Amino acid sequence: MEKVHLTGEKATLLITLHAKAEESRLPGSLLQDHHAAEAVARIDHDFSALGMRRDEMIGLAMRAYTLDAWVREFIAAHRGATVLHLGCGLDSRVFRVAPPPEVSWFDVDYPDVIALRRALYPSRPGYQLLGSPMSDLGWLSRIPTDRPVLVVAEGLFLYLAEDEVLSLLRAVATQFPSGEIAFDAYSRMGLALASRNRMFRATGAVMRWSLDNPLDLEAQVPGLRLRDEQWVYEESDGAQWARFSWPARAAVWLMRRVAPLRRLGRLLRYRY
Ligand SMILES: C[S@@+](CC[C@H](N)C(=O)[O-])C[C@H]1O[C@@H](n2cnc3c(N)ncnc32)[C@H](O)[C@@H]1O
Repeated sequence: MEKVHLTGEKATLLITLHAKAEESRLPGSLLQDHHAAEAVARIDHDFSALGMRRDEMIGLAMRAYTLDAWVREFIAAHRGATVLHLGCGLDSRVFRVAPPPEVSWFDVDYPDVIALRRALYPSRPGYQLLGSPMSDLGWLSRIPTDRPVLVVAEGLFLYLAEDEVLSLLRAVATQFPSGEIAFDAYSRMGLALASRNRMFRATGAVMRWSLDNPLDLEAQVPGLRLRDEQWVYEESDGAQWARFSWPARAAVWLMRRVAPLRRLGRLLRYRY
């Protein structure tokens, strides 16, 4: 069993990991993240104390599912690409997506989080781990500059200061020849609501960065072009909404019809 001593924004990884592990056990699981379930079983921590609701598990699985799909698309279009999975926490994306060995995949997070990952997950061809805070971009110099690079960050940018987000995006857009950057972003109101979530508040993590208009980033980061913007609970057939409780279904019904509510939480994909 692995002991965990995580606080603040690092401790939030336990929430998203638990969500994915539990969603994989629900009937009709979307994410089927059995790797997360196996990791949770090896961590000495009382996850039940989170009191996570089924709707929250499904919602977090939906966010991860869309980002997985965007990663798969990029890899299929760019054989031999590089993937930078930032703020990876204990997320098992590299195992869910299972890229071919010619893809170079880097999981990046704080050094102690990366040490925990090493203890919990196996290695695989083309897969590397980098321990660094996002405030220090020195690790970027270790990434090859001759291939398209996809940056994927789930549940990370909201914890960074605005200048950290912009420095990171500018460095990526200047250093690499081309690629995409995919992440979740919250409007100012969305961030205020997320900060009040009892599970995240209990970690002491501070949520900092919000984005009301995705086009603002085009102006702030030269070379960046918005490719996709979608509501975090977007889906064409409503199959996941049908799994929600009645109150959550009512909230989704309302959000679908009121644009400012859909902007509370979005998944964004930019090209550079
Ligand atoms: C909500 S968790 C998300 C983890 C993972 N992406 C997932 O979806 O399961 C936030 C992650 O961002 C990492 N993180 C937050 N701020 C960071 C920073 N300044 N530098 C490096 N990692 C950071 C935390 O350590 C944590 O693993």
